Amino acid sequence: MLDKLLNKIEKNEYRVGIVGLGYVGLPLMWTFHVKGVPVLGFDIDEKKVNCINEGIPYIKHLGEDMMQKLAGSSMCDATTDFSRLNEADAILMCVPTPLDHHREPDMTYVENTTKTVSKHLRKGHLVILESTTYPGTTEELIIPILEKESGMKAGKDFYVAYSPEREDPGNENFNTAAIPKVVGGHGEEALKLARAVYDTAIVETVPVSDTKTAEAVKLTENIFRSVNIALVNELKVVYEAMGIDVHEVLDAADTKPFGFMKFTPGPGLGGHCIPIDPFYLTWKAREVEKYTRFIELAGEVNTTMPQYVVDRTLKALNSRKKAINGSSILLIGLAYKPNVDDDRESPTYKLMDLFDGYGAEVSYYDPYVPVIKPSREHGHWAGKKSIGWNKTTIQDFDAVLISTNHSNINYGELADWADLIIDTRNAMNGITSDRNKIWKA
Ligand SMILES: NC(=O)c1ccc[n+]([C@@H]2O[C@H](COP(=O)([O-])OP(=O)(O)OC[C@H]3O[C@@H](n4cnc5c(N)ncnc54)[C@H](O)[C@@H]3O)[C@@H](O)[C@H]2O)c1
Repeated sequence: MLDKLLNKIEKNEYRVGIVGLGYVGLPLMWTFHVKGVPVLGFDIDEKKVNCINEGIPYIKHLGEDMMQKLAGSSMCDATTDFSRLNEADAILMCVPTPLDHHREPDMTYVENTTKTVSKHLRKGHLVILESTTYPGTTEELIIPILEKESGMKAGKDFYVAYSPEREDPGNENFNTAAIPKVVGGHGEEALKLARAVYDTAIVETVPVSDTKTAEAVKLTENIFRSVNIALVNELKVVYEAMGIDVHEVLDAADTKPFGFMKFTPGPGLGGHCIPIDPFYLTWKAREVEKYTRFIELAGEVNTTMPQYVVDRTLKALNSRKKAINGSSILLIGLAYKPNVDDDRESPTYKLMDLFDGYGAEVSYYDPYVPVIKPSREHGHWAGKKSIGWNKTTIQDFDAVLISTNHSNINYGELADWADLIIDTRNAMNGITSDRNKIWKA
């Protein structure tokens, strides 16, 4: 059974099924497709499936060309019909892993997907979980579900592996194919098969001893980012009080050729990963009576950043004899990071809520997010539209706050048009140093 599947994979005569066609699953689909591997995509969201089959982009930074090529290809198909899972030889699950209202892992998407997969599981299938999750998920959650429904045994009748997704949306230097893939198998045979699958499309695989090690690798990477971002955010506040520019400090420190890695402060943490993933470990650590103090502390520092930014805005307005209450404030950048349309967990929403609570009139500009979509967290802003980019509109705001530094924004025009700019991203560096106009925050 192993040799048969391995042979198929090595000859590119196998089919990949990708479940969950979002920020991770869609580029993964493309990655296999360009290497000539037939791909079948699955999603419960009919709109996304139709977009793939009709060539309509739904993730802005991935572009139209890719979508049209996927739609025009006979080797690629997307469907909401999960009975077609049996057409795939390897099933890759890329579904969301958010936190629930108590900031604990919400595994419902992973559980539901695994239940669906289990109904269509056949002998020789390889199932790989790619979603970010706590160590132990594959062994303790995925395998029992797959075995229960199918009546088959993992490692004997079918194979299971875990390989975390390291996709960095919008990163022009590293696309999915160029990022080495960490792989942990439930047994040596599963590892061998999973590595063979990724070897057909991705630059390198990095094998680790088991699935829980692979799960821990992903969390470690994101905890590392969260803690280091908290560190520079804390330094920003301290240096600001001392009249020192944290960005100048970090740029100079970054000239050290060893022992330093630059992280950049900002208005808070955003995105589907860094504010969330570390707490998967916090939750799991309780089971072994261990405490993740670095994670908690980093979370605390990063969570206070929006309030710090609001306090700086208050001071900036005060210097103009204005109060936040009644002021018109424009936030630039709703996406959580530059050059993408992903606004999940964006700190800009937190800023909007805080300003709104202080009685300011809040507007935003974001060329990537023309209108705010309905969501559980930010439903009260749904339907609000980005303002247009023109002098007449922008010069009327009492303050403009740069929350996300998209590279297609004309910061020179902003410097000319706006009266007061609160810059949380050092975006105005080199554009103007007018200390009266630019407040770093
Ligand atoms: N976005 C990133 O930059 C990134 C990077 C690395 C890892 N990850 C991880 O990858 C996973 C997926 O993240 P994402 O950003 O792609 O999420 P996403 O929300 O963009 O996409 C997930 C997709 O899964 C679909 N889905 C949900 N339940 C389903 C089900 N039962 N069956 C089929 N499809 C279902 C949704 O409709 C959606 O299209 C998460 O665990 C995330 O932490 C994300």
